[in-house]
Amino acid sequence: MKKMWGGRFSKKTDLLTDDFNSSISFDQRLYKQDIFGSIAHARMLGKQNIIDPKESEIIIATLLDILADIDAGKIEFSVAMEDIHMNVEAILTERIGEVGKKLHTGRSRNDQVATDMRLYMKDICLETKNLICDLITTLLDIAMEHTNTIMPGYTHLQRAQPITLSHHLMAYVEMFKRDVIRMDQVFHMTDTLPLGSGALATTTYPLDRESVAKELGFAAVSLNSLDGVSDRDFCIDFLEAAAVFMMHLSRFSEEIILWCSSEFNFITLDDAFSTGSSIMPQKKNPDIAELVRGKTGRVYGDLLGLLTTMKGIPLAYNKDMQEDKEPVFDAYDTISICATTFAKMVKTMTVNKSVMKKAAAGGFSNATDAADWLVKHGVAFRDAHEIIGKLVFYALDQKKSLDDLTLEEYKTISPIFDETIYHAIDLNVCVNQRNIIGGPAEKQVIKAIAINREWLTKH
Ligand code: ARG
Repeated sequence: MKKMWGGRFSKKTDLLTDDFNSSISFDQRLYKQDIFGSIAHARMLGKQNIIDPKESEIIIATLLDILADIDAGKIEFSVAMEDIHMNVEAILTERIGEVGKKLHTGRSRNDQVATDMRLYMKDICLETKNLICDLITTLLDIAMEHTNTIMPGYTHLQRAQPITLSHHLMAYVEMFKRDVIRMDQVFHMTDTLPLGSGALATTTYPLDRESVAKELGFAAVSLNSLDGVSDRDFCIDFLEAAAVFMMHLSRFSEEIILWCSSEFNFITLDDAFSTGSSIMPQKKNPDIAELVRGKTGRVYGDLLGLLTTMKGIPLAYNKDMQEDKEPVFDAYDTISICATTFAKMVKTMTVNKSVMKKAAAGGFSNATDAADWLVKHGVAFRDAHEIIGKLVFYALDQKKSLDDLTLEEYKTISPIFDETIYHAIDLNVCVNQRNIIGGPAEKQVIKAIAINREWLTKH
């Protein structure tokens, strides 16, 4: 096949070079963006009389036909045509001859690919946002059912203070909300049209870049042609946002894995979202959560790979930048499947409420509340801490929880105690007394759920 850039060459390209050089195997994913970008360019060329307006119409109509044919799976792309840009142009020229050859007037693949990538990135930012919002909705629904489900809150993975499952889940809601905001920010960073930058120094044709930006839905036009064709920071921004989202999802996965172990037994995953072992008949494994945790590494790799690719490239375009696509595609595919599957897995899990509550009761998670009771009865907090420390030491020795100790036992440690201590260390009371914004009290969590449902309607 004759190369579009073949004029100054006397030899054919080695097949290995074709293979190595070509990106069509992966950048065909950009066919819609490429065609819409070309349509906007062709329309503008016609309006500006840079090409005959009638020819511009023929180009546009044929590009739409090609789009429909690609959609219908009727087109086979060619490796010799290297990438999606030259493939589409070759098909166009095959269909309408000389007129097709005019499309690339005042344009380079360098500004073309930067435009395609930005269009694609804007789409996936919105799609990712929607997926994360769906996950948030799922979590809010589960949280609403568990505003009374007591569980231990942890620090250092040691039982610390009682909270509710609802409060715990709502922590992830906050993280995911920030992930949504990050995707929004990437969208806005990406929302600038590079087309018109040409190969690196714009063009001598009187392009109307603003009209192209308008047609393609870009908020602005890039102000420097070298930057327009050669930065990929918007891809890196997306990968960074994806990596942070995966980090959050991975921490959550780790907790799911712990919680469904027999040691914790806080939850039971649905059979439909678990897997078995080929040798151990008793096994039911949390593979989904493990894979989400594992795939986090892969998305970090995508981010670090592209950062490293970009770090030493002189201005402006260099072929290294063709390496921007696979990490972005891979990260997008990974976060999409992870977010969707993870949401289904948590939606179908069973919560073992009594086990959770027992764990909260068994781990002295109400010790802070016992100390606070003393403070309310005139003891300085440091002294109260010391007294309850001794009480815990004693209870451990007796193999009892704070609730099981008799009032006499309390009194031997400190005479100040009276029976209202039992109310103060009741787990429900402990939780519901933490009744300030951000706290686990049922009232606060229900309020937070409502605030977040409202938030979702605006995102
Ligand atoms: N396939 C190329 C890429 O993805 C398109 C731009 C090629 N430009 C060039 N001057 N060779 O980066």
